Amino acid sequence: MQIIQSVNEMQSHAIGLRSSGRLIGLVPTMGCLHEGHLSLIDIAKEKTDKVIVSIFVNPTQFGPSEDYDKYPRELEQDLEKCRDRGVDIAFTPSVAEMFPQDYSTYVKEEHISAGLCGISRPQHFQGVTTVCLKLFNLTRPDIAVFGRKDAQQCAVVKKMVRDLHLPTEIVIGPTLRDADGLATSSRNVYLSPVQREEALNISKSLKIAKDMVDSGTRSVDRVVAEVTHHLAHSRRIRVIYVNVVDRERMELARTIEPGKQLLCVAAWADQTRLIDNIEL
Ligand code: PAF
Repeated sequence: MQIIQSVNEMQSHAIGLRSSGRLIGLVPTMGCLHEGHLSLIDIAKEKTDKVIVSIFVNPTQFGPSEDYDKYPRELEQDLEKCRDRGVDIAFTPSVAEMFPQDYSTYVKEEHISAGLCGISRPQHFQGVTTVCLKLFNLTRPDIAVFGRKDAQQCAVVKKMVRDLHLPTEIVIGPTLRDADGLATSSRNVYLSPVQREEALNISKSLKIAKDMVDSGTRSVDRVVAEVTHHLAHSRRIRVIYVNVVDRERMELARTIEPGKQLLCVAAWADQTRLIDNIEL
């Protein structure tokens, strides 16, 4: 496995790969790789000839009071996992090269980014689209693979690709869950066993919602109320939002149309911000 740090080297290497006819798959990550990331790598390997995993904790997608400084960084273990999984290139640029002191250009998607996480994290998606566009320019991917747990991120990045005519297909991999049901996330390492136990109520509440819809409930209000009620029982959980939205535009749904919508939840488990969703 090649490890590339320099942005210029990454870009000229990717241009070379493309001109030799290789299909490039990118899995963009912020490191602290877990089974969810590894499953996205498997998808990229299946669909392309050369898999690039970027590992970059992007400062521009964190708000001023968020966890940028304490975000888990485990580069050596991450590189080991990439090697074991058959990744061809690990791209590990520095903040100084990606966002030098005089950096001043951002990409902003204005509609899909506005609701859900965009309400409590107003700069977040601008940071995500900006870094993704930069990573796409540097790695020239034919496909880029994202995880469905970050459903709004997937919809925002897809929209950016469509609006800006980017020659990259966005592929969405399923949410991976640990055996207890918790969606895999780099932030899960923050959870103590007690916090984790309470955080499980998030995935349990999604299951309750799905069961309600499967048994005929079509009222968004009833489903949202039931999920909120379930989460209210956990002392350490504070709900940020519980919303039913359509999958592409992330607009609030009025009635439930099975197969077309997602129930999305964001909640604090004490100081850890968690998100999850389920297709209804
Ligand atoms: O999902 C993530 O880990 C990040 O938001 C991403 C896509 C790597 C951009 O920094």
